[in-house]
Amino acid sequence: MGDMGIVVIVGGHGKIARLAGPMLRAAGHTPIGLVRNPVQAADLVSARIVPQVLDLERAGAAQFARMLRDRQATAVVFAAGSGAEASEYRQDRVDRAGAVLSAEAAQLAGVRRLVQISTLGADSVADGATPDYPPEFVSYLRAKWAAEQDLRARDLDWTILRPAALTDGPATGRVILADRVANHPVPRADVAAVLVRLLGDPASFGGVLELCADDEDGDGGPDGG
Ligand SMILES: NC(=O)c1ccc[n+]([C@@H]2O[C@H](COP(=O)([O-])OP(=O)(O)OC[C@H]3O[C@@H](n4cnc5c(N)ncnc54)[C@H](OP(=O)(O)O)[C@@H]3O)[C@@H](O)[C@H]2O)c1
Repeated sequence: MGDMGIVVIVGGHGKIARLAGPMLRAAGHTPIGLVRNPVQAADLVSARIVPQVLDLERAGAAQFARMLRDRQATAVVFAAGSGAEASEYRQDRVDRAGAVLSAEAAQLAGVRRLVQISTLGADSVADGATPDYPPEFVSYLRAKWAAEQDLRARDLDWTILRPAALTDGPATGRVILADRVANHPVPRADVAAVLVRLLGDPASFGGVLELCADDEDGDGGPDGG
């Protein structure tokens, strides 16, 4: 992606997305954020993100791809999420199917760059394993793992980013980005900054990167959101 990319953020009203908006602008990109509720458009404008209405659960891949072409998108970021209280049904619809749809649409539109926000622990359900977590967290991990598996199989310049449990604290700039990290909760603002950096980094193509705070004392658990 060049310096002046047009970055379509799926889950445009999400907390990470809105933190990333000004950072993307500062890096010379134009962020476009997808929302399913037009009322959220004003919040996006405040975050310097161009709003675009598109409901992941209603749009087909062709419609999504047409929008990407019309907007001349150069990258897609999957930052949507079903939320902490979601049913297994919605986890499947948003966390898995929404991510799959985004990748499918990117491919159809010829947009090669895609960064998918997954979660730490997604691979703990690999090969049908059932880790010792609450059932609603296991089903969330299964949806995220399925989305990762779908993306890995695609001919795209993808990167999978697996943050630890998210917090709303200020950015610290002190993070660990590596193949394996501990679950030290990480501020969304730090995730947004890493996301923006990864977008333009070809070394991260085809990579699965875990992210946590560089915090020896942190030991918080994932919140399932
Ligand atoms: N919470 C954690 O500790 C944690 C840890 C690791 C990774 N993650 C992942 O981090 C990512 C971003 O987290 P966040 O906290 O920034 O997210 P967030 O604030 O919960 O935002 C998620 C966004 O997804 C949108 N969305 C849901 N269903 C949609 C649909 N059908 N069509 C379009 N948009 C839809 C929501 O829009 P509405 O307002 O319309 O619902 C919301 O704006 C997610 O992928 C999450 O799974 C979370």
